[in-house]
Amino acid sequence: MKIFVDSADLEEIKKAYEWRVADGVTTNPSLLKKSVEKNKEQSLKEYIGEILKATKGTPVSLEVTSSEAKDMVLEGVMLYRTFKSYSKNIVIKIPVNTALGESDENHFEGIKAIKELSDRKINVNATLVFTPEQALLAAKAGAKYVSLFVGRTDDYIKSKNNVAGKQEYYPAEGLPGGEGLLEDNGIVSGIDLVSQSAEIIRKHGLKSEVLAASLRNKRQVREAALAGAHIATIPFSVLKEMVMHKKTFEGMKKFSEDAPEEYKKLMR
Ligand code: G3P
Repeated sequence: MKIFVDSADLEEIKKAYEWRVADGVTTNPSLLKKSVEKNKEQSLKEYIGEILKATKGTPVSLEVTSSEAKDMVLEGVMLYRTFKSYSKNIVIKIPVNTALGESDENHFEGIKAIKELSDRKINVNATLVFTPEQALLAAKAGAKYVSLFVGRTDDYIKSKNNVAGKQEYYPAEGLPGGEGLLEDNGIVSGIDLVSQSAEIIRKHGLKSEVLAASLRNKRQVREAALAGAHIATIPFSVLKEMVMHKKTFEGMKKFSEDAPEEYKKLMR
């Protein structure tokens, strides 16, 4: 499974590449907002350029901000052209559905934009995917990546069912409630969303890579891997958690104390 860094913070991104664990980066408007607030002196174009240099040709997702297909396509092409001199691996992030509610007229602008950009050979990351049906439509439209929002699916199932508390971890197998498990149209957790979407994509030979996003803790990363995600996009804090264990620290202390001087000399 590939690891992407879910961040628009240059320092975090540089660190993850220094650690040799990053295979790409995903950004979104909210993450970029944080960077803009942090870097008031530098232009955003320059800043994104630096991110692209630091990521050494691996895929970096940049999201559009319009909601009509034709505008999203224009924005996608503009972003691609503006930054292609920094990296050949710009991925345009398109929301699977840009409508703001069920009563809105047009729910297929996202799908249309995904198809149009993919047909133009620009790689698309279909984002804000919360159902396997949306995943199927995005994959059929040619999305290179389909981003399934794990943590926010858990949030939604919890809030729909008045489950109190901000649990660190929501079980992949779901929580009991009423007559069965708490669910959203047959999805019992964010990880279940990944698993069902991955199964559909694989079963039907679709080419999209399943990208688990909105991951909030290291256990979800493991579960996303087990559920068949090709990629996990991981916040920097979760990435750091992944390498830590108390017994590893303890073991390290003991090995460092015990290593005979003569043995150490053999390695110098
Ligand atoms: O990749 C999407 C991600 O940034 C959203 O994460 O934690 O805001 O749901 P979160």
